[in-house]
Amino acid sequence: MADNTEEKVGADSPVVVVANRLPVDQVTDPDGSVRWQRSPGGLVTALEPFVAGRGGAWVGWSGSAGEAPEPFEQGGMSLIPVGLSEEEVDHYYEGMSNASLWPLYHDVVEKPEYHRHWWDTYVQVNKRFAERAAAVAAENAIVWVHDYQLQLVPAMLRQVRPDLTIGFFLHIPFPPYELFTQLPWRSAVIEGLLGADLVGFQRPSAAANFVQLARRLHDLGCRRNQIDYDGRVVTAKAFPISIDAAAFDELARSPEVIARAEEIRTELGNPTKIVLGVDRLDYTKGISVRLNAFEELLQDGALEAPGTVLVQVATPSRERVEHYVHMRETIEQQVGHINGVYGSIAGPAVHYFNQSMPREELAALYRAADVMLVTPYRDGMNLVAKEYVAARGDLRGALVLSEFAGAAAELKQAFLVNPHDIAGVKNQLVRALRIEPAEAAKRMRAMRRHLFRNDLEHWAGSFFEALRGQA
Ligand code: ADP
Ligand code: G6P
Repeated sequence: MADNTEEKVGADSPVVVVANRLPVDQVTDPDGSVRWQRSPGGLVTALEPFVAGRGGAWVGWSGSAGEAPEPFEQGGMSLIPVGLSEEEVDHYYEGMSNASLWPLYHDVVEKPEYHRHWWDTYVQVNKRFAERAAAVAAENAIVWVHDYQLQLVPAMLRQVRPDLTIGFFLHIPFPPYELFTQLPWRSAVIEGLLGADLVGFQRPSAAANFVQLARRLHDLGCRRNQIDYDGRVVTAKAFPISIDAAAFDELARSPEVIARAEEIRTELGNPTKIVLGVDRLDYTKGISVRLNAFEELLQDGALEAPGTVLVQVATPSRERVEHYVHMRETIEQQVGHINGVYGSIAGPAVHYFNQSMPREELAALYRAADVMLVTPYRDGMNLVAKEYVAARGDLRGALVLSEFAGAAAELKQAFLVNPHDIAGVKNQLVRALRIEPAEAAKRMRAMRRHLFRNDLEHWAGSFFEALRGQA
């Protein structure tokens, strides 16, 4: 297409977002036709409305191995694909990003693996992302780099484009010194991040971990959240991410979604209570914990199926990484076991969907659920918890939330749980199921007040304001 050349699409962009994934994934159907669909995960949920609203450029991978497709315009954004070979997907994405860094940064919930050839490919791919961003950014542009897959990009970008203002935001937790220093390439990662003017984290403790690492590993001068590095000042600060609360609220109030929520209840056989889990199928999310808690409550006779049902929606994720293959088998066995013992002709106790669902369907599920169960062992934020709160404009429903999700620092009126303490999870789940409507409304109102004040616009706006202050 003549007007789809790189010179035109996204060229000279004043604002460039760089993330491993584009907001859309390229998928090839069995008949060979190619289409784009929304990418999974919280990073895209948060960033897409922000970039689309500003006509920015987004540099990212298309989600499949092979040559990069041509840059194109979509939804008011210029999308600039970066190509990854099969081997790069294997070493950089599945290996270094998702079998080394992801488990290390999530408290070593699974044991990270470290391989030198994975690291070498990580460096090579980070360089490619930096080059693509450098090619589309206008002079003195703002470039905003995202997440653990691209931690070397800030320094690489600064080397070729010192005119840019560079921000970095880490969507996942950042571990303390004692864990981070396991990483054989720890110094290179810290130096990569120090290429940014502003390094943003979900929690103040993560920013403090980063400053401590800069001081102890690199012997740098630090004043509270500021680090002196290479004649510049790098700021590390928390910016808890959020959702477009008003848009989600509006979606969940639409007559179609409300009607669908009623239909879901009917289709589930009109249970007295619906408990809901919605996650990417990831071992950090603690899906087994909630299945265990639910099973024990059925066993104890505290709950009865199918009067109470658990609906678990788990989007397929990183399906070729070994940790994920095992976890999926475990969860599916658990679901099969619970349904074998506690299901009846009237229906199963657990309705399990290993599928991605449209946002309207998720909103209807949130609206139908009496209790939302969010039990990660560790999570940077957890936007599902925030979506549930945004969807409950009717002030009904209750949220059970892990203390180890970033969201717990904000949604303080949730039923907070330690996912390692099964008795505590059971206890809080039962309390949430038995909550009085007035108490539920009081808690939900308080959480919604916080959420609407601290929405996506607030997150991105405060990051940009701080970044401009650094320029
Ligand atoms: P993570 O980024 O680790 O996946 P978050 O909870 O922060 O976790 O974000 C997950 C995002 O993915 C949310 O916006 C949620 O609505 C979406 N999502 C989760 N499960 C599904 C699903 N089965 N179908 C469609 N979207 C989903
Ligand atoms: C989390 C990460 C994102 C990632 C998303 C989906 O939200 O912070 O960087 O994009 O999960 O994971 P995936 O591996 O499919 O991109």
